[in-house]
Amino acid sequence: MTRIENILNPLRDPRDKRLPRVAGPCVLVLFGVTGDLARKKLLPAIYDLANRGLLPPGFAVVGFARRDWEHQDFRQLAHDAVKEHARTPFREEVWNQLSEGIHFVPGTFDDDAAFEQLATAVKELDVKRGTGGNYAFYLSIPPKFFQDVVKQLQRSGLSKPSEGSWRRVVIEKPFGHDLASARELNEILHEVFPEESIFRIDHYLGKETVQNILALRFANTLYEPIWNRSYVDHVQITMAEDIGIGGRAGYFDGIGAARDVIQNHLLQLLALTAMEEPVSFEAESVRAEKAKILSAVRLPADLDTYSVRGQYAAGWQGGVKVPGFREEEGISPGSRTDTYAAMRLDIDTRRWAGVPFYLRTGKRLARRATEVALMFQRAPHLPFAQTDTEELGQNALVIRVQPDEGVTLRFGSKVPGTSMEVRDVNMDFDYGESFTESSPEAYERLLLDVLIGDPPLFPRQEEVELSWRILDPVEEYWDKHGAPESYPSGSWGPKAADEMMARDGRAWRRL
Ligand code: BG6
Repeated sequence: MTRIENILNPLRDPRDKRLPRVAGPCVLVLFGVTGDLARKKLLPAIYDLANRGLLPPGFAVVGFARRDWEHQDFRQLAHDAVKEHARTPFREEVWNQLSEGIHFVPGTFDDDAAFEQLATAVKELDVKRGTGGNYAFYLSIPPKFFQDVVKQLQRSGLSKPSEGSWRRVVIEKPFGHDLASARELNEILHEVFPEESIFRIDHYLGKETVQNILALRFANTLYEPIWNRSYVDHVQITMAEDIGIGGRAGYFDGIGAARDVIQNHLLQLLALTAMEEPVSFEAESVRAEKAKILSAVRLPADLDTYSVRGQYAAGWQGGVKVPGFREEEGISPGSRTDTYAAMRLDIDTRRWAGVPFYLRTGKRLARRATEVALMFQRAPHLPFAQTDTEELGQNALVIRVQPDEGVTLRFGSKVPGTSMEVRDVNMDFDYGESFTESSPEAYERLLLDVLIGDPPLFPRQEEVELSWRILDPVEEYWDKHGAPESYPSGSWGPKAADEMMARDGRAWRRL
């Protein structure tokens, strides 16, 4: 049996890890197909999955948008998106097979007739392509439209599975803009879909390097003994971006960096780094451990010192002059939105008592880098001359999430020569060098998991609410206390962020 035949063999043992996980027959309905996410990530990821043989012949994509389009127009958009953004090489035969299953239904979210048409279209696909009556609805649309779409899915009967089939709904962060709105959103979804059918996407959880945090921690004996307050001095979680807000003014203004990525990506990184070992990698076990650690997070009493927000001003980046946030198209000149946010969080557990977790994120910083760095305590005694260890820093274990995916261990080493000079050196594990296969994009993994119905990588509502509980007081404090500090584009953010670390006798890692 060839590999492909084996993949498609319905009698294969799904627990057989030698075989790739493959989606069963289904239709993926995409709302918001003209948006950036669909073009840059979702459509290319669908193609990449098809190219890797992970989608069945009985698969179809239906786009829904307010466009006067024929199927062919949407196919063309998908074709261009795939050519420009897919990770794997373009293969005509894969594209042809996939594109036959690409359909389009024009309409607006308040148009009952359009949803009737959508219902007819997916039923026809069930017959024509054998999609088995299984539908996943991907809401790649602004959250203010979630309610309309979910209600329409209910009204048109699309949300109700027939015997033996499934329905799933996929939503993208932000899940609300605070605790209250997150709860409202959840209620709206729950009126129509049961919890197990709701897939909340935090694309960081689809990244290989993020999943590797669990492998690193729980597949090895090396790290566990030092992964605690006895050895770790503090943890730094950084998500630095060199880009500005691009064309996303409408979304970003008023939301800000903390709501955009700390509430979700960075707190998820914190949870994976700090949580206890789950009893298994079943969704409920992993989510329960994450929820436990998020509920143990404590905000500092002094938010004035230990929370910082900034906003980028004009500056130079990569030799190019770039405008400040308030000069970006679509941003009001008096905007107080944060494009940089940093804060100290403590975790009240036996493992982490007294070990601060410092989080920072920002747009238009000096370079793009996301990492989790465990900074270890200094040796209690150094039997060297003081001048020999001047260049010796703290030992560090750095999980490089992107762009240079890997892990670095930093420790002191003797400098060759006649004296006993000790200096920091790095030992690197690099994904690109250790594995021949390039890492799949986060959306490939997550889309496949939705189609298979595999939930461990999707945060559940409890985690969403716990994360808002952490962030809401900070946002409220910021609301009442002036404007963000400005920092030049291309720098490492506002001075207050360095001062925050200096107050604790620490410094941000230089990236
Ligand atoms: C998104 C944020 O969730 O993540 C964006 O909304 C940010 O503002 C993006 O730019 C970064 O994603 P990545 O995968 O490039 O780190």
